[in-house]
Amino acid sequence: MTTSQSNGQDSGSDQPKPGLNGRAYPITDHVYDVVVVGAGGAGLRATLGAAQAGLKTACVSKVFPTRSHTVAAQGGIAASLGNMGPDDWRWHMFDTVKGADWLGDQDAIEYLCRNAPEAVYELEHFGMPFSRTEDGEIYQRPFGGMSTEYGEGPPAQRTCAAADRTGHAMLHTLYGQSLSHSAEFYIEYFALDLIMDDEGACKGLMALNLEDGSIHRFQAHKVVLATGGYGRSYFSCTSAHTCTGDGNAMVLRAGLPLQDMEFVQFHPTGIYGAGVLITEGVRGEGGYLTNSEGERFMERYAPHAKDLASRDVVSRSMTIEIREGRGVGKEGDHIFLHLDHLDPNIINERLPGISESAKVFAGVDVTREPIPVIPTVHYNMGGIPTNFHGEVVTLKDGNPDHIVPGLMALGEAACVSVHGANRLGSNSLIDLVVFGRAAGLRCAETVEPGSSHHELTNGAGEEALDRLDRFRHAKGGTSTAQLRDRMQRAMQSNCAVFRTGEILGEGKDQIQDIWQDSDDISVTDRSLIWNSDLIETLEYDNLIIQSAVTVAAGLNREESRGAHAREDYPDRDDENWMKHTLSWADDAAKTVHMDYRPVHQYTMTNDIAYIQPKARVY
Ligand code: FUM
Repeated sequence: MTTSQSNGQDSGSDQPKPGLNGRAYPITDHVYDVVVVGAGGAGLRATLGAAQAGLKTACVSKVFPTRSHTVAAQGGIAASLGNMGPDDWRWHMFDTVKGADWLGDQDAIEYLCRNAPEAVYELEHFGMPFSRTEDGEIYQRPFGGMSTEYGEGPPAQRTCAAADRTGHAMLHTLYGQSLSHSAEFYIEYFALDLIMDDEGACKGLMALNLEDGSIHRFQAHKVVLATGGYGRSYFSCTSAHTCTGDGNAMVLRAGLPLQDMEFVQFHPTGIYGAGVLITEGVRGEGGYLTNSEGERFMERYAPHAKDLASRDVVSRSMTIEIREGRGVGKEGDHIFLHLDHLDPNIINERLPGISESAKVFAGVDVTREPIPVIPTVHYNMGGIPTNFHGEVVTLKDGNPDHIVPGLMALGEAACVSVHGANRLGSNSLIDLVVFGRAAGLRCAETVEPGSSHHELTNGAGEEALDRLDRFRHAKGGTSTAQLRDRMQRAMQSNCAVFRTGEILGEGKDQIQDIWQDSDDISVTDRSLIWNSDLIETLEYDNLIIQSAVTVAAGLNREESRGAHAREDYPDRDDENWMKHTLSWADDAAKTVHMDYRPVHQYTMTNDIAYIQPKARVY
C-alpha cells in the first residue's frame, strides 16, 4: 500500500534523526504551512483549499482517502438549489435551527445555509456525478425536517443526491481534485497527539507510519483536525470501525474541552442486528415505517411530516412503539421499513445501494418485503468547539470564544455548532464541504506561504511517544477487546435514545470503572509493522475518554432537547439550558469537569433575523 504521495513536489521530509532524549524511535521531521488530519469530505475539501491557495499542505490519514467514512454517506447533501420546487436558504436555515432544537449557533447556521448552493455547484464543476432531473439539473429528494415557507409549506426537495451513494461520489471527486493540486498525502499514518507549546498554541502533531513503524513529527502553522466522529463508543452504530474520534481525544489530552458531547444521534433506520445504514432517502422516496399492527404509526407522532419528521423524533417514536409492545419480529424488538410499494424502476435507479445492503445484511428483497430496522447510533453532534472559519475556540479568562492559535477542526469532529442538539439528515455532507472550504479560505487569509517556523523545543512530541510506549509495552491482564466490549455495551444500554438520571448515573459509574480498569490493559504484539493490536488499543484509549465525557455530560444536562431525551426532565428548558456544555477530561486522574459557553443568539448578517425559540412540532 502506498504510504505517501508527493505529486512531484518536495515531500518536506528530512532524514530520520536520532530518537528524542535517547529514545529508541528515530524521528522524521516535516515542515508544512498546513497539515490536515483526516481525508474524509471535510479533510479533503480543506486540503484542496489550502493547496489551491499556494500553501504547502499535507493531509495525514489513517486510511486510504477514498476509504474514509464519508464514503458510506448515502442519501445526499442539502442545499436550497430549488431544482424541484421553490426553495430559499433562509427556509433551510429555519429548518436547521429548529432541527437543532435551538442549541445551534445561528451565525454559523446562516454561514452554512447561504453558502450551501455555491458549495454544491462547486462539487458539480469538480465533476461529481450527481443524479439528474429530466432537464439535466441536479436531482433533489425530500429529507427529514426539511420544509418550505419556514415550516408552514410542503416538504422541501432540498437533498441533492448521487443515487444512494452520494458520499462515495463526493469523496472520489474531492480526492481527485486534491491530487490535481500540490497537496501531499501521508496515507496510513496514525496521528498520535498534538504538539502544543507553553502558551497553548498548536505547533504540529506526531504520527506513526503504520506500514513501517516510523515516527513522524509534523510542524505546521495550522493543524486542521477532520478526524470524524466516535460512533464506535457504542455497540451498534452505522459508523465504520475507524470512527474512533482520534482528533477529539487528542484535543482532550491537550487540555482543551469538547462541546455538547451529550448529543448523540440515533438514525431511525439501521438494519436490525447489523447496524448497517438504510438511508432516510428511502422515506424521501415514499418509504414508510409500520409496527406489528401494520400501522403507519408516525402519523400519530408527527401528523404533518409523518415519516419525514426529524431523526430524533422518529427514533423516539420507534422506541416507544417497541416498548409498548408493538415492535415486529420474534422478539418484538424492531420495526418494518417498507418500500415494497414503490416502482422497482425507481428503486433500481435511486436506491440501488440500500437494495443490496438489505439483501446482504437482512436477506430481504426490498421490492417484495419490508426491511427490519432499529434506531442505531449514527452521528455525534458534539465535538471540538469552533467558529465558522473552522478555528478551534475555548473558554479562557472569561472569553468563551478564545481562539486556540494554530488549531482548526471540521466535519463531525467539530462542533461549529450548526447541528446543535440534533442534526438534520443531509446537513452533514454540506457541513463538510462548506466548512472545509471555509477552513481553506481562513488558512489562505492567515498564513503566508512558506513563512518561517519557530524551532520546536527539544522534547516536542515526547509525551506522544510516552503514551505510545505505555501501550506498546502494556503487560496487564485485560485485553483491549474485553475493555472495548464492556464500554460499547455500557454506552448502548445507559446512554441511549431515552435517558434518566438513574440510568445515566449507572452508566457513568460503569464507564468510570472501565476507564480505571484500562490501566490493566494488555497488548501482546510489541512490533511496529502493521500492529493492529497496538492501533486498536490506541483507538480504544481514544474512545473511552470520549465515552466518559459523553455520559457525564448527559447526566449533567437536566432537560430534554433534540437527541438528548431525559424522561425525568421531559421538557426543553431554555432559561437554564440554552447553553453549550464544555467538557474537559483528565486522563491520568480519570476525571471530567464541565463549564459552559453561550449559544450564539444572533445571525451573521442582517439578511435574516434571529429565529426565536418555539415549541418544536412536526
Ligand atoms: O440517511 C442518510 O442517508 C444519512 C444521511 C445523513 O446522515 O446526513
